[in-house]
Amino acid sequence: KYKMILDLDTGIDDALAIAYALASEECDLIGIVGSYGNILVEDGVQNSLDLLELLGHPDIPVFTGLPHASTKDSFEVMPISAQIHGKNGIGEVKLKKADRKPEAMSGVDFFIEAAHKYGKDLVIVPTGPLTNLAAALEKDPEIAKLVGKVTLMGGALTVPGNVNPVTEANIDQDPEAADKVFRSEFPLTMIGLDVTTRTLLTTKETQKWRDLKTLAGEKYADLTDYYIDAYKVTSPYLGGCALHDPLAVAAAIDPSLVTTLDLNMKVDTEGPYAGRTIGDETRINEPALLTKAAVNVDKTRFVDLFMERLTTLFSK
Ligand code: BDR
Ligand code: CA
Repeated sequence: KYKMILDLDTGIDDALAIAYALASEECDLIGIVGSYGNILVEDGVQNSLDLLELLGHPDIPVFTGLPHASTKDSFEVMPISAQIHGKNGIGEVKLKKADRKPEAMSGVDFFIEAAHKYGKDLVIVPTGPLTNLAAALEKDPEIAKLVGKVTLMGGALTVPGNVNPVTEANIDQDPEAADKVFRSEFPLTMIGLDVTTRTLLTTKETQKWRDLKTLAGEKYADLTDYYIDAYKVTSPYLGGCALHDPLAVAAAIDPSLVTTLDLNMKVDTEGPYAGRTIGDETRINEPALLTKAAVNVDKTRFVDLFMERLTTLFSK
């Protein structure tokens, strides 16, 4: 069994990623690191604690990550994030507050400790900015070679970004951190907008969770419907909401869900393209190609798996 760590900016699709990980018997979710992006870091940590409680896993530790991108003086949640995920990150849905606090150890130290303890059995799935992972790498560069794999949600290679024509939100928050991770020896898979915007959910599916008449089914239907409504405004041509973050978890567990292209990637850190994920021309002829960039996805198989797993989890 894999040991999995999620590094989330707990908004709505991050909440769906937590549920997917908990519903998957192939992996043990050993901890959640809280990041910023859709929300401030402390709100994301609280959302993760509350969601774990709702889903019957108050035992899984939650660690606080770094508060904002190292490159920016201050961090404010983008208005578009509040529009998509709600001001509280989970579609204005109210959850019972967990009666515990995050762990005292930092998220960065948790990454380092887990890499040494579990080695190749460890799978890291970041679905927010890469600030925490880059900081862990800087503190202990050895971890890149130790871990089994890093499957991240972020970037865009064959489609435009969602912040501007070249940048995707998670990478856009901290391009320097992302560039460090892409240039490192982490065994990396990039699950970008190229594939995530092909995996869609509609209210037809969330109604199935509502029909379960359980608290988890009802809360998850409410928060996902908020996200589906937001997508009707921001991306009406899609016909549903994109399952960005849960696809990263699913592809970490079953890589055959996506088709990948082996590349050496970089992230532009300055100039008009800052935040762009692109092949690195200076490493194009290196024998070791470090990133598997997903360019296609078996969307039917994924959405079926997603519905099967989450519906079973919410019916408990
Ligand atoms: C990514 O940005 C966040 O808003 C989502 O949670 C997802 O991780 C999509 O660009
Ligand atoms: Ca996210």
